[in-house]
Amino acid sequence: MPPEETSPPFNLRICCIGAGYVGGPTMAMIASKCPHIRVDVVDLNEKRIAAWNSAELPIYEPGLDEVVAGARGKNLFFSTEVKDSIHAADIIFVSVNTPTKTFGVGAHKAADLRFVESVARTIAEVADSPKIIVEKSTIPVRTAATIQTILESSEKGLKHQVLSNPEFLAEGTAMADLGDPDRILIGGEQTPEGLAAVEKLVSVYANWVPRERILTTNLWSSELSKLVANAFLAQRISSINSISALCEQTGADVDEVARAIGSDSRIGPKFLKASVGFGGSCFQKDVLNLVYLCGHFGLPEVAAYWEQVIQMNDWQKHRFAERVLRTLFNTVTGKRIAILGFAFKKDTNDTRESAAIYVCRDLLEERASISIYDPKVSKEQICQDLGIGPDDPRVEFADSASQAAADAHALLVLTEWDEFRSLDFEAIFQSMVKPAWIFDGRSLLDHARLREIGFKVYSIGKPLP
Ligand code: UDX
Ligand code: ADP
Repeated sequence: MPPEETSPPFNLRICCIGAGYVGGPTMAMIASKCPHIRVDVVDLNEKRIAAWNSAELPIYEPGLDEVVAGARGKNLFFSTEVKDSIHAADIIFVSVNTPTKTFGVGAHKAADLRFVESVARTIAEVADSPKIIVEKSTIPVRTAATIQTILESSEKGLKHQVLSNPEFLAEGTAMADLGDPDRILIGGEQTPEGLAAVEKLVSVYANWVPRERILTTNLWSSELSKLVANAFLAQRISSINSISALCEQTGADVDEVARAIGSDSRIGPKFLKASVGFGGSCFQKDVLNLVYLCGHFGLPEVAAYWEQVIQMNDWQKHRFAERVLRTLFNTVTGKRIAILGFAFKKDTNDTRESAAIYVCRDLLEERASISIYDPKVSKEQICQDLGIGPDDPRVEFADSASQAAADAHALLVLTEWDEFRSLDFEAIFQSMVKPAWIFDGRSLLDHARLREIGFKVYSIGKPLP
């Protein structure tokens, strides 16, 4: 990297390792709010970096294009030069993926930390001045200690500081969440050096976040808070989803129940939307991390308590697919089922742990033929998620909702994309096999109107027809 790029106007250099859903938007926001800081986002994945440098960004996030366009090439750079960027940086954010382990000890619960470990080793090898290393990836509690141990094993005798600064942005609203966060959380060692490092990171965020919203804690509190925040949010969804099943049986309406309980200020109205099940890269992974941690520390009762949040979510996804099967006269073999929405929520192209994956798999197991439409998810991604080839005769990829619905026996709404509300349902009804069913997994549509058109409607948490 040419030396002049390290000189003013930049008074600080940040490097972010991992150009994903967290690293990309977060660094774009820092660069846009702090023109005096140079931000380098690096990733081993060349294709992803090329996309960040093109007009077609690798992730879809409302408002992201504009923020990237405003800073890229000025103080925001995307490259595969991992080592050079580490070498030149004052602060290094670690934003690599930490999937749930699929094998060995802790399989399906513990986080797989091999990418974090590999990054720590690279930093130890490359750095020749003390760095502030910031954990941004979702990680199990005490990961900072692992990173610290690896860094200290280097023979260079440098004392780096490891901070925890968990990200609370939600996909689909990432830019608003980053621009105006409820809080920023920074954990560090409670030593003079640790506190100085915390203060340095605080001063970066203080460029646009009011100081009183920047919370500082010890390392473990910060790491654990991330898991607990997501566990509490996931728990609310599993709680309302459990009640959705009871509503269907009793004649209560889950949206009315949610409104009634949510107006109690102690409960609050958010995260009470019953659904086909929560997805996303964080909730399941973080709750499982918490479960693993509790088991590890000899607290099986606490582990079992939180594990139930995941079991309820799994049940909800299968329950939905089973409802489709039972309603369609106990067989979907050879029937065309239209899937509207494949992303785990609206306004993102992310499909990680999306309920749609599980519902589609259950239907394919029953030998249905499915036609899928999502406004932002690629065909390649869907094939990868379902473990099928691009020419699998059981799955069709539609360019519009109406194309997916043509000749279908049922239409399943699995993601709450706004555009689904204003479809031409009269025309869709005409094109479907009768009786034409809509299974609304998001309570998104106007059911009274759909019934007037002639549809039969099932909606999560509404009294059964
Ligand atoms: C979540 C946390 O909200 C965020 O703070 C953290 O940093 C990462 O994990 P994200 O997974 O991007 O963010 O999206 P979120 O809006 O939380 O939704 C997660 C899932 O829950 C989605 O599938 C969504 O559809 C579902 N959901 C959410 C419900 O089913 N009902 C609700 O009331 C809210
Ligand atoms: P998240 O949602 O947490 O941002 P992603 O999977 O979207 O997760 O992004 C993580 C990124 O980290 C990926 O693009 C991956 O290529 C990158 N990555 C993983 N390991 C390394 C590494 N050792 N060096 C650089 N980048 C890495």
